[in-house]
Amino acid sequence: MAHLRLYEKALCWPLLSISALALLAISLPACTAFGTAGSKPGSSSEVPPVMYQFLSHMTKLQPYMVSRKKFRSPENHQQILLNLDELAKLSNKLHQYSRLNKTTFHISAELLEDRLQQAAKSFKEGKTAYAQRMLRESLTGCSSCHIQVVTKSSPSWVFKKEQLSGTDYERAAFLYATRNYDIAAKLYKSFIKKFNPKKDDQFQYEPSLKKVLSYYIRIKRDPNGAMQYFRSIYKKSLPKYVQKRRKSWLKQLREIKKTDKISPTKVSADYLTKFIRTHAGSEFTRDKYDDSKTVKALYLSGLLYEFINSHPQKDITPAILYWLAIFDERLDADYLNDLSELYLRQCIVSFPKNPMAKKCYQQLSDNIEIAFTGSAGVNIPADVQESLDKLKRLIQDKK
Ligand code: HEC
Repeated sequence: MAHLRLYEKALCWPLLSISALALLAISLPACTAFGTAGSKPGSSSEVPPVMYQFLSHMTKLQPYMVSRKKFRSPENHQQILLNLDELAKLSNKLHQYSRLNKTTFHISAELLEDRLQQAAKSFKEGKTAYAQRMLRESLTGCSSCHIQVVTKSSPSWVFKKEQLSGTDYERAAFLYATRNYDIAAKLYKSFIKKFNPKKDDQFQYEPSLKKVLSYYIRIKRDPNGAMQYFRSIYKKSLPKYVQKRRKSWLKQLREIKKTDKISPTKVSADYLTKFIRTHAGSEFTRDKYDDSKTVKALYLSGLLYEFINSHPQKDITPAILYWLAIFDERLDADYLNDLSELYLRQCIVSFPKNPMAKKCYQQLSDNIEIAFTGSAGVNIPADVQESLDKLKRLIQDKK
């Protein structure tokens, strides 16, 4: 199941490439001590300079990202290889920036590093289709960090959409990943407007709607704007399931507008998680796969990220990780990423003594069970079971 594809990943920054089992066996002290910034470069509001290097290499790769033919052409081989290698190397250094020294950023960085390394490796091995897929997916690694930061200002770099290759949808995906949200949203909207169910790719329509939704909720914090927009896109010709989704989103947006305003930068972690519990409640842990909570999940997790970004790492509690995991399960990769398991593991590994660790464990083992349930019953692979058992012992040992 897609949302569990990262279940085996390690969570501690200095040990990123070590397998999860080895990690859990040898590195717990390092994990529990996460979050000491030390004297690393970069302030808490500065754009980490590596981002401009990322941007430069990604821009060079963009035309190859969207064309199978160009990506495979021997004539481009050297150029692609060079940029992939550089990106993979850079992604390995993200931990040097103190601004990025947050659990939730670490997890996204790890995702990015994994995708880029796979892209570079498989490209060298001649597996170009897979390499191209990994490269495209690495953009989700970029956005999964970026979507955690609210933006008020425009990016400090300017892009003309003509400089990018591909369709509106493909260009939008690139700009969205590189934090050029306003232009990305315009392109997604233009794709949505022109969309013809008979001619265009259905599989690009829904992700476009979801990107526009997360733009309004996460980046702009503007439920009103979202309502206006989703009201305006009504079209009779749209498939039934899209109509239904649109209606449900509008309903949730009206509910969000009614919730009390809070400022995550000013409240305590306890206050915030109480607020979240009141507004999410037990309904969130049930019926995970329907669409009736997605907008709320986007909105509430946005508040949590805003808290994380404005408080020192030591204030991040297991309850925050737990709720991020719960919300992430509601949101598929079109909005963000499947980070849920990673948050749950971090909750257990970093706070084994806390009562929340048990809840995190329960949630994680339920998810794993669901993921490995097929027509022949539950069939959890031995290594996955072993890693779960290790987490369980961790909670029990520390009592
Ligand atoms: C570990 C988290 C993380 C990852 C992964 C990440 N970024 Fe960033 N990026 C940030 C943060 C934080 C900022 C600053 C945002 C702000 O202050 O508005 C940023 C800003 C940017 C900017 C905006 C610069 C500007 O002037 O506004 C660009 C461009 C960028 N990143 C490119 C990338 C690309 C391309 C990737 C993927 C290859 C990537 N980033 C991956 C955290 C990350």
